[in-house]
Amino acid sequence: MKSSKSYRIMIVDDDPDILLLFSRWLSAEGFDVVTAASGEAALERLHIDVPRLVITDLFMGEMSGMDLLASIHADNPLLPVIMLSGQAQIPDAVKATHMGSSAFLIKPVKQPELIDNVKRALRIGPELQDHNSIADAIIYKSKKMGELIELAQMVADSDITVFISGATGTGKEILAKAIHKASPRRDYPFVAVNCGAIPEQLLESELFGHEKGAFTGANVKHEGLFKSADKGTIFLDEIGDMPLSLQVKLLRVLQDLEVRPVGSTRSYPINVRIISATHRDLDAIVKQGEFREDLYYRLKVVPLQMMSLSERREDIPLLAAHFLQRHNKPGVKKQKNFAPEALEYLTQAPWPGNIRQLINIVDQCATLSKTGTITLNLVQRALQCEPARIQTLKNAKQEFERNYLVSVMKITNGHVANAAKIAGKNRTEFYKLLNQYEIEADEFRSNSSVIEG
Ligand SMILES: Nc1ncnc2c1ncn2[C@@H]1O[C@H](COP(=O)(O)OP(=O)(O)OP(=O)(O)O)[C@@H](O)[C@H]1O
Ligand SMILES: [Mg+2]
Repeated sequence: MKSSKSYRIMIVDDDPDILLLFSRWLSAEGFDVVTAASGEAALERLHIDVPRLVITDLFMGEMSGMDLLASIHADNPLLPVIMLSGQAQIPDAVKATHMGSSAFLIKPVKQPELIDNVKRALRIGPELQDHNSIADAIIYKSKKMGELIELAQMVADSDITVFISGATGTGKEILAKAIHKASPRRDYPFVAVNCGAIPEQLLESELFGHEKGAFTGANVKHEGLFKSADKGTIFLDEIGDMPLSLQVKLLRVLQDLEVRPVGSTRSYPINVRIISATHRDLDAIVKQGEFREDLYYRLKVVPLQMMSLSERREDIPLLAAHFLQRHNKPGVKKQKNFAPEALEYLTQAPWPGNIRQLINIVDQCATLSKTGTITLNLVQRALQCEPARIQTLKNAKQEFERNYLVSVMKITNGHVANAAKIAGKNRTEFYKLLNQYEIEADEFRSNSSVIEG
C-alpha cells in the first residue's frame, strides 16, 4: 500500500467549516490537502498543479460542482472527483455519476465515510484490490497494450463514457467486456448492440423500446436494450454505422440521461454506462458529415485505441499459444505445439484480420496437424488458403437477412404474424424464411407478454 503522503487532495466548498473539518480529517490520514472556496478558485489552482483527487460541493456560488466536474474532466478525464451535496437528490447523484464522478456523498459526512471513499477513489487500501483486473481477461505482453490496459483499468471504476477504436478483429469487444467486468457494475448486464446490423427503422425501438401499437405490428410493448442494461453497461458496437436520424436521438439520451420509447409520451431515467466502438475512422466520417460531431465528443470522453496485431507483434506468440492451448485436452500427453520456425512465420505475417484471423489460422492448424508439432509448412498453407476476409455477395446478403429477421423477431417478442407484417411478407413466406435460417420463434417469446394471434 502506498503511503497517503504521496497524494494531494483538493477540497472545494463555499462553506469554510467543511474546508476546515475535511482538511483536518484528511491531513490526519497523511494526505496533502489544498482548499478552494469556489469552483473558479479551484480551476485557477488546477492550472498550477493537478491534485490526485478533487472533493467538491455541488451547490456553490457561481460555478456549481457539476460545472467544475465538467471543466476538470475536459482537461483531466481521469482525475477522480467526489461530489458532496447537502441534499439527497437522486437525479443529481445519477447525473454526477454519469459525468464521471467517483462518489456522491450526502452531508453530513462522517469521517470514516469520507476516508473510505477517498481511498476507494484513489484505489489504495488492501480491501480495494479485489476487482477483476482487465489484464486477466486480455492476453498481451507488448508495452503499448500494457499502457492501454492501464488506462482502461483506471477508467473502469467510474462511469466515464469510453470510446474504443481499432481495426477489425483487434479485440474491441473483449476490452469493452473487460472494462465492464472490472467496474462496480460487473454484477449487472453487459448488453452489446451491433448498430450496423440492425435496420434503421428497427434500431430505435431496439435501443429505446416501444409502446404497444407504436407502429404496425407492434402489438406488444418492447422494453428496449437501454432498459435491459439497467445498472449495467451498454456496448454500442459499430457506432460509426448508426444512421444520422438516430444519432440525434442518442445524443439527447446522453444529455438528458433519459429514454423515451417509440410511441410513448413519457421518458424514464436510465442508469447505464456507455461504451461504444467502431472499426471505422470516425474523425473522417465526422468530416464527411455522416457522423455528428457533438455526439462524437459525448462518446469519446475517454478514447482507447486498440492496436493492430502488426503494431504489436511481440503479442503474437503468446496469443497463438493461448489459442492453441484450447485444443489441448487436459491429461492428454501429446500436447500440440508450434515448431519454432512456424511461430516465427506467424509473428511476421501481415494479419489484416488481426486476432480474429489469428484464431482461425491456429484452429485450422490444430485441426490439420497429424503430429503434436505444427510445422512451418502447415502454417504457410493455412495462411495461403485462407480465403480473402471479404465475403461473397451471397453470404453478405444472407447475413443481412438473418440479422434482419432476428431484429424483427426480437421487437415483436416472437409474434410471427406481427413480424411478418413489419417485414411486408405473408405468414407462410415469413415462416419459410425463419425455417431457412433456423430461427425459432419460441426463443423470442417472454411468456408474460405474448398473445399469439
Ligand atoms: N488480447 C486478447 N486476448 C485473448 N483473446 C483476444 C484478445 N483480443 C481479442 N481476442 C479474441 O479475438 C476475437 C476478436 O475479438 P473482438 O471480437 O473483441 O474484436 P473486435 O475488435 O470487436 O472485432 P470486430 O471489429 O470484427 O468486431 C474474440 O474471439 C476475442 O475473444
Ligand atoms: Mg466487434
